[in-house]
Amino acid sequence: MNNYNIAVIPGDGTGPEVIAEAIKVLNAAEKKFGFSCDLKYFDFGGKRYLETGHILDDADVNELKNYSAILLGAIGHPEVKPGILEKGILLKLRFDLDQYINLRPIKLYKSDFCPLKDKTPDDIDFVVVRENSEGLYTGMGEFQNKGTKDEVAIQTSYNTRKGVERCLRYAFEYCRKRNKRKTLTLCGKTNVLTYAFDLWKRTFDELAAEYTDIKTEYMHVDATTMWFVKNPEWFDVIVTDNMFGDIITDLGAMIQGGMGIAAGGNINPEGVSMFEPIGGSAPKYTGQNIINPLAAIGAAGMMLETLGETEAAKVIENAIIDVVNNNLKSLSAGKMGYGTKEVGDLVVAKVMA
Ligand code: IPM
Ligand code: MN
Repeated sequence: MNNYNIAVIPGDGTGPEVIAEAIKVLNAAEKKFGFSCDLKYFDFGGKRYLETGHILDDADVNELKNYSAILLGAIGHPEVKPGILEKGILLKLRFDLDQYINLRPIKLYKSDFCPLKDKTPDDIDFVVVRENSEGLYTGMGEFQNKGTKDEVAIQTSYNTRKGVERCLRYAFEYCRKRNKRKTLTLCGKTNVLTYAFDLWKRTFDELAAEYTDIKTEYMHVDATTMWFVKNPEWFDVIVTDNMFGDIITDLGAMIQGGMGIAAGGNINPEGVSMFEPIGGSAPKYTGQNIINPLAAIGAAGMMLETLGETEAAKVIENAIIDVVNNNLKSLSAGKMGYGTKEVGDLVVAKVMA
């Protein structure tokens, strides 16, 4: 029997509530498919930081290296200044565990939940491969003459050939394995960011010559957001840098039905990966049993997929599709027609059926 050690970080706000439902579904899948998960809970987050002053120590990160995967709820606390927990926990984990891919499937499960007119699940089904370890996220930069009228703030986008190439290669391989339209779109800004995206485009073109079975396209990021809204059916796999990936995947989440359904994976193909609902801690909905747990359940499904439990992952996704289509009135918090726990129960029932 396959056995996995899973590190669970419920985190802040509604994180613990949605993670509880994801674990319920995970337990059901273990029973049904005959694998087992040993769960270890970690209390990293805003609450622990306020109580102990510890954000995330190197020892904590080293401990996490012993796990098969990490399931994360949400990080963010209303009483902690923006940036501290995001940088100190979420980004630190991504960087220190070298999770260099942020994989974000954009899939609409029901036309009614799409804000775009006349778009169906056939039209919105693509994946964004976001570089997750470089770009504008490294924290490189400086202030000059801070606080004076001559102040300058510099924020550097740091792109290495190795970092860009491993991300692009992952995207080409992913596109090949996905085997849908076999089209990979590079999203960039070669007309303005003439260093960073020159490197991206040159590397992209070099790899394209190697992956002759994959059709390649280039699109500027501003045009990409336009086509997300107008012709999302054009996309299969999109690859882009960290910052653009951050922005376009929030737009992607909206066209797939909202944050309630959007899941992502921070992937280190050679190491420990971390899966999360991308919606954040939603403090105002905390503790009311109204937040949508489907994104967290979807993240657990992605985790199983990555661990190689592909059948279980497929059944979980189908259970989510079933619940979205046959039960929920909306995907938004408080409007689903069911509580958080009840949505979890519905998914469990369909997984076990
Ligand atoms: C995301 C989030 C993070 C990011 C924040 C919380 C640092 O927006 O996962 O997309 O910018 O990557
Ligand atoms: Mn984001």
